[in-house]
Order: sequence, then C-alpha cells, then structure tokens
Amino acid sequence: MSTPDTFELFFTGTPGLEEVLRDEARDHGFPDPRVIPGGVVTRGDWDAVWRANLVLRGATRVLVRIGSFRVFHLAQLDKRARKFPWAESLRPDVPLRVEVTCRKSKIYHAKAAAQRFERALSEELGAQIDPKAALCLKIRIEDDLCTISIDTSGESLHKRGHKAAVGKAPMRETLAALFLRQAGYVPGEPVIDPMCGSGTFVLEAAEITAGLNPGRSRDFAFEQLASFDADRWQAMRAKAPERATEAQGVYQGSDRNAGAIEMAKANAERADVADLVSFAQCAVSDLQRPEGPAGLVISNPPYGARIGNKKLLYALYGAFGQTLRDQFSGWRVAFVTSENGLAHATGLPGLKSGPPIPHGGLKIRLFQTGPLP
Ligand SMILES: C[S@@+](CC[C@H](N)C(=O)[O-])C[C@H]1O[C@@H](n2cnc3c(N)ncnc32)[C@H](O)[C@@H]1O
Repeated sequence: MSTPDTFELFFTGTPGLEEVLRDEARDHGFPDPRVIPGGVVTRGDWDAVWRANLVLRGATRVLVRIGSFRVFHLAQLDKRARKFPWAESLRPDVPLRVEVTCRKSKIYHAKAAAQRFERALSEELGAQIDPKAALCLKIRIEDDLCTISIDTSGESLHKRGHKAAVGKAPMRETLAALFLRQAGYVPGEPVIDPMCGSGTFVLEAAEITAGLNPGRSRDFAFEQLASFDADRWQAMRAKAPERATEAQGVYQGSDRNAGAIEMAKANAERADVADLVSFAQCAVSDLQRPEGPAGLVISNPPYGARIGNKKLLYALYGAFGQTLRDQFSGWRVAFVTSENGLAHATGLPGLKSGPPIPHGGLKIRLFQTGPLP
C-alpha cells in the first residue's frame, strides 16, 4: 500500500455552519468542496494542506487522510498498521499521539486498536508515542473501514496567534468569521460591534478587508511532517496577499467595560490592524451612528444569564434595538443569542434566525435583519 499524491482533506468546522465553511473553501479555490456533518471534504496535495491552514478563517482544523483499509479483527489491524507507509508522511524524531474512534465495526475496542497502532508506529517507524504530543494521528474505524488522518493544524485554528487578551465570554475567531460570512459581510463594508468584548468581530472584519491571512503568525503541526519543505512554505507565506494599504473604512468596537476596550486595543496592535480599527468605552444606549455609508452592525451580546438576571438582559436587548432603530437606518444588523425572546426584545423589524449552533453548552443562533428602514 502506498499513500497517494493527493489526499482527501477534511476541514473540521462548527456544526450548523458547514455550508458557510464550504462557501469559503470554494471561494479559495479548493476543488468541489462537499459538506458532511461537522465539516467540509475536498481533495488536495500537501501544498493545499498548508494553504488551507494559512487562508481559511472558518475551519477549526485541517485533517489529511493519508490512507484507509478494511479491517475486521485486531490481528489484521496489527499487520496492516505495521505495513502502512508511515515514513511517507511522519518523521521518526517527532513524537505523536494516536486517537482512535470505532463505530459500527467488528473492532469496537478503541483502546486496543490504538495500542496496535502505537506499537506499529514505535517499532516500524521508530516514533515516540506521547499522549501530550502536539502532533495527532486520528484514526476512525467505521463500518469496518479504518481511515487514517493526520491533524495538520495542531492547535485549533481559532488561535490566530495575535490574541493575548480575552474577556469572559470571547467568541472564537473561526466562529466570528463564519458568522460574518453568514451575515453577508463583504470586504470594505463598515462594521460596528457595540458590545465588542475583546473585539473579535471587528478584528476579523478588518483583517479580511486588509487582505491578511488568518494563519500568518502561527505555527502548524504540518511543519513537523516528513512532507514539509520550509522553503516552499516560506514562499507560500510570502506570496500571501500583501496587506491592502488602501484598506480603510469603519471598523468600530465599543463596550461599556473599560478592561474589554484595553484588551481589544492590545489585540488590534498584535494583529497589525490598529490603524484600521477604533475601540472606545461606551454603553450601547450611547452608541452614535458614524458618518459615511451604512454597513453591518454585528454583535454577541450577553446571554445565558440565570433567571434573576433575565430582566436586565431584556432591558439590554431593548436598548440595543432602540438605538439601532433610531439611528442606523440603512444598516443591516446581525447578532448572536441563545433565546428567541431576547432576540425579539430588540424590536428590530424582519428578524430572521439561522440554524442552532452549539456554543458553551448552549444553542446559539445568528439573528439578522435586512437594511433597517
Ligand atoms: C459575550 S461578551 C462579547 C464577547 C466578544 N464577542 C468577544 O469576542 O470577546 C458581551 C459583552 O457585552 C458587554 N456589555 C454588556 N452590557 C453592555 C452595555 N449596556 N453596553 C455596552 N456593552 C455591554 C460586556 O461588557 C461584554 O464585553
């Protein structure tokens, strides 16, 4: 058995937003991206793997399927695992860990299967198995088909490598990027988040307009693989779209919490978009419409409070809606919340809700309006 030159790639994403991720993958030229539960499948070579990690804003991880075989019992698994051409993709000097899941298969004992793989990797390849290793081999045995994938990202891709500071309930960058896309955000469009916390929506939007790649500042697990070529990777990174110097517009965040504003400013510096964005301490009821064309108000207000605090939340959503209805004619509004009742407390006209998204133990949705009257 040998590994192919192009592989099946799996971009793991946020359940409920797979189609949004598929559209992003298509826009970046990944061929025929298909939605499957939990992500998007496409094909590509190692360069495509690196590029996916570098450019995709909505993917959580990039998995590459390096091989598969049918297997019905552990002795057979042992034999196939020993014969597998590990050295084509893995390096003996890089420790790794193995994760196995079994479903609807004769082999149902994931731990026993993992042991077979671990032994094969250490005895045939000479690799050290370490449960804390950054590099992870993900093996799925489903319907007696064993599929072997490498997680080429390492740390989740929401860690762009810029954010030093986060508040109490930060939105993941990957999720924020998917919501921006779901809200129809186009580069250059003004964006305001009046409850911005650490500034995730505003920073993602400004980066998109500036043409910055989300993975420009971080390391990836694929750098530890046998297929890695540092020169080619450097060339790919350098070829990445240069920052669009003419990028400008309104990327504005505010929050009533002074600490959140300090964090958002520090994050903007680290992401190299400080000159594009502005953050100010301000309660949502004091928000002022900026001069210039209408754009998108997008926010992640507080939600999920205990019963006693519900009244305050209803008042907050009411104030949010009132400010927007009074001053933001022509702007579109998108916001994330866990409760229909809170969404409708805004009094915003024509609210439509997206699919439920699991988030911090709750189900959240993106609620959207068209241009406000
Ligand atoms: C869920 S957090 C937003 C997190 C943010 N999306 C991020 O990624 O860090 C909600 C934010 O709303 C702010 N907030 C609550 N009430 C507010 C009000 N009346 N005016 C402005 N901001 C408010 C809180 O300070 C908090 O930072």
